[in-house]
Amino acid sequence: MDGLPVIDVGPLRDGTDVAGVAARIDDACRRWGFFTVVGHGVPDELRRRLDRLARDFFALPEDEKARIAMPGGGAAWRGWFPLGGELTSGVPDGKEGLYLGQELGPDDPRVAAGWPLHGPNQWPERPEGLRPAVLAWLAEVAALGRDLLQAMALGLGLDGGWFTRHLTGDPLVMLRLFHYPPLPEGAGPERWSVGEHTDYGLLTLLAQDDVGGLEVRGPEGWVGVPADPSAFVVNLGDMLERMTGGRYRSTVHRVRNATDRDRLSVPLFLDPAWDAEVVPVPGSEAPDPGAARGRWDGTDVHELSGTYGEYLLAKVSRVFPELFAEVVAPEPRP
Ligand code: OGA
Ligand code: NI
Repeated sequence: MDGLPVIDVGPLRDGTDVAGVAARIDDACRRWGFFTVVGHGVPDELRRRLDRLARDFFALPEDEKARIAMPGGGAAWRGWFPLGGELTSGVPDGKEGLYLGQELGPDDPRVAAGWPLHGPNQWPERPEGLRPAVLAWLAEVAALGRDLLQAMALGLGLDGGWFTRHLTGDPLVMLRLFHYPPLPEGAGPERWSVGEHTDYGLLTLLAQDDVGGLEVRGPEGWVGVPADPSAFVVNLGDMLERMTGGRYRSTVHRVRNATDRDRLSVPLFLDPAWDAEVVPVPGSEAPDPGAARGRWDGTDVHELSGTYGEYLLAKVSRVFPELFAEVVAPEPRP
């Protein structure tokens, strides 16, 4: 049995062997929908700095963190949520988090148009230096993600700019800082730090510390993802599965922090633009006969039509039901 693919993307990033890396990524996307990436070029100093600042933030008193709680971010969908505040598959997660994204001011046309999930971040007063570290991370990791998408386009037999032209001219980029405390002592096997799920968009690029606990369902069952802080874990979201008719997989994963240490992870979600029509890639009009039906959440991603924004709003209403009803799509009051 082979393990989770590890791909050195150095030759993609410096242009010395784009086709070779594209072929390895293509193989990983078809078989696993999950791989780790080394040789990525994102500075390790930046990762260490962000890791330290995120720990400093989560160590603040609850009432200080609550000053930037998510409801205050309105429909821009930013800010802090406490332990148990997010529901995956209907069950509260054992994590707290800080939701962030591209810093978009009121003059940005997407903000002016009132699009949900676009807007300014809520920054904490402490720790100092979090804002520049987050903005630098967003720029570095989104650039890596765009290079990976270019390689995927090539692997699918398209020209390298296909995704950019069709979907991500102005991609939706979201970043989260997650803190997973150890699960309570005696927590049964039904308790997860994050329950089984797939991600919604195109690509997730996740940095993590050395605690471990992320598991992915590979071709032969559940496997642990090695906890290597210097690598990125990359997984495909529902939109890539949808657009490729199932040739590329949006793979189920989950997290359990069964250690006695605090785990920190930093996923960046690179998604289609809000108003992008999610269309099949050429050659994938018919679903792959081998594509898994009857998904983990009872939906059929291959039946979806419309824009990415419509899909995402439906998901968000399930993971943050109260917040959604309050600030994102409030019922008109009589
Ligand atoms: C996610 C996710 C895993 C982790 O945020 O979608 O799967 O290790 N995170 O934090
Ligand atoms: Ni996920």
